[in-house]
Amino acid sequence: MALRNIVKEGDDILRKTCRPVDKVTARTQLILDDMVETMRNAMGVGLAGPQVGIMRRMFVAEPLPGEVYCFVNPEIVSREGTQECEEGCLSVPGIYGLVDRPEKIVIKGLDRDGNPQEYEFEGFHANVMCHEYDHLDGILFIDKAKETFTPEASEPEEE
Ligand code: NI
Repeated sequence: MALRNIVKEGDDILRKTCRPVDKVTARTQLILDDMVETMRNAMGVGLAGPQVGIMRRMFVAEPLPGEVYCFVNPEIVSREGTQECEEGCLSVPGIYGLVDRPEKIVIKGLDRDGNPQEYEFEGFHANVMCHEYDHLDGILFIDKAKETFTPEASEPEEE
């Protein structure tokens, strides 16, 4: 595994719509493994393809320590309720913001082995998945944030 460079805001790569992954191959798995390593190294809770220059629909997330999800060709098939989330992003360092997200989602897609998976997430898990999913359509949290700020005392985890 290897660390990959994290693309920062201002780079057009982050603004493009990603294409689906045709087939989960050994190369796809290598990229996903690198993404997990890169996310952890940067103390993040999520990382999407375009953030490491991969313009394919996939992301990784670790909303709780040790609880790693790999999503290939994810689809959010239902959204319910609203929660206000304090978010950051590894591609937008030092900036945080308040974003309205669904309280609960159902998301399906393929896992690291190319097998179908479906999860119902709520709270912080739903928050992380929605943030990562947006990256695949070129959307950053600062586009949706009601307000942004640079915290001094406490820093939320970055996605
Ligand atoms: Ni992000």
